[in-house]
Amino acid sequence: MNHTIGVMGLGVMGSSIALNMASKGEKVAVYNYTRDLTDSLMEKVEQGQLSPYYDVQQFVASLQSPRKIFVMVTAGKVVDAVIESLVPYLEPGDIIMDGGNSYYEDTARRFDELKSKGIDYLGVGVSGGEEGALKGPSMMAGGDREAYEKVAPILTKIAAQVDGTPCCAYMGPKGAGHFVKMVHNGIEYADMQLIAEAYTFLRERLHIPLNEVADIFDTWNQGELKSYLIEITADILRKTDEKTGLPLVDVILDKTGQNGTGKWTSIQAIDNGIPVSIITESLFARYLSSRKDERVLAASILAGPENSKEELDRELWVEHVRQALYMGKICAYAQGFTQYKKTSELNDWNLPLKDIALIFRGGCIIRAEFLNTISEAYKEQATTTNLLVAPYFVEKTKAYQMGMRKVVAESMMSGMSFPSLSAALTYYDSYRTGESSANLLQAQRDYFGAHTYERTDMEGSFHTNWK
Ligand code: 6PG
Repeated sequence: MNHTIGVMGLGVMGSSIALNMASKGEKVAVYNYTRDLTDSLMEKVEQGQLSPYYDVQQFVASLQSPRKIFVMVTAGKVVDAVIESLVPYLEPGDIIMDGGNSYYEDTARRFDELKSKGIDYLGVGVSGGEEGALKGPSMMAGGDREAYEKVAPILTKIAAQVDGTPCCAYMGPKGAGHFVKMVHNGIEYADMQLIAEAYTFLRERLHIPLNEVADIFDTWNQGELKSYLIEITADILRKTDEKTGLPLVDVILDKTGQNGTGKWTSIQAIDNGIPVSIITESLFARYLSSRKDERVLAASILAGPENSKEELDRELWVEHVRQALYMGKICAYAQGFTQYKKTSELNDWNLPLKDIALIFRGGCIIRAEFLNTISEAYKEQATTTNLLVAPYFVEKTKAYQMGMRKVVAESMMSGMSFPSLSAALTYYDSYRTGESSANLLQAQRDYFGAHTYERTDMEGSFHTNWK
């Protein structure tokens, strides 16, 4: 009795979070809808580490008031069912936290519904997978700030810590925390796809043996590309398949799944007029990957270029690829952070862009050295409309754009598919195009639909009788 927190939903993530909380001195009650997960968790833990409950009412009654319940279940209807099962036993002032990948507008709806009952609801984005949940995830909380302050001592304690700063912060009202997590995942898709393209260039165009590609990733991980995803890529490339003795990556089917968060990121951006082409191309790359049979058929029908015989200088081109990857990453984060900024303005959320970069430095999947520079950019210039125009990134892209152009151009001439690197370069060039061809589009719209146009030399809207 008298537990300081309850964890509901004991899958991999929920169990890990519960153990993390217990290891930090919390008295944790745990509950799962089905008994089996509770039992198998209890078999793994030491006596007294966690207190299992098999009845929701007793689970809730065992918690100190105001009750704090961390829910970790699959996003969607299950969250509503869990809330429904809890509500009869809760009192005004109690706090439910949803740590799953819930859609942020569902979180806002649940927040309103519970508010009318006096119950506080926090949508807490949690990133870091199983290891993060166990040892310290990155957490993005949304809801009422007062409610957050009540759970902050626990959340900040279990979060990853970087330079003494917990990777957990209050993002804004209602669904803001889950929104930040959603876009985090969109950036994650882009980051992963960019890495996959860099890997492809090293292997297929520069013909570098796999173990040496792994070494290159290790070297990159010592410098400005240092990040979790680069680190695990080197590990993955070194792994041998026990069944065949082949590199494991070569026996894994080239079909990628997705759980929805990247898709929501693109849909939300499209709905709000925010160009996130790199994230979206990374999503589409996953969709196309899953059409394996069609691709195999097309490969036997459609023409590509002759294999280039030209031997490329390895050292020089590895550096071009490194620059292309880093610049692609800059563009992807610029898109994601623009999505934060614009959505924050649209909803009056006041998202703390600097803090988002700070809490992404540890615990989460996209943790990277380079987030320090993003945080600095927002510290120096909170109003930066796009990271690309912040001084550090202006200098970096100036230095790296030619390397990126070479890699993208070479990939196209070789017929390799690089949707995200090329989208990144296109985004960079489109963003720096002061005079675009949209005048022609506008003329076309006026021609066939009398949609009118603005002029460069006078105010107002004009229509021409084109025929
Ligand atoms: C994280 C991950 C996590 C999960 C994603 C993967 O931040 O810890 O993003 O949320 O791995 O659901 O997403 P996909 O299944 O869509 O690739």
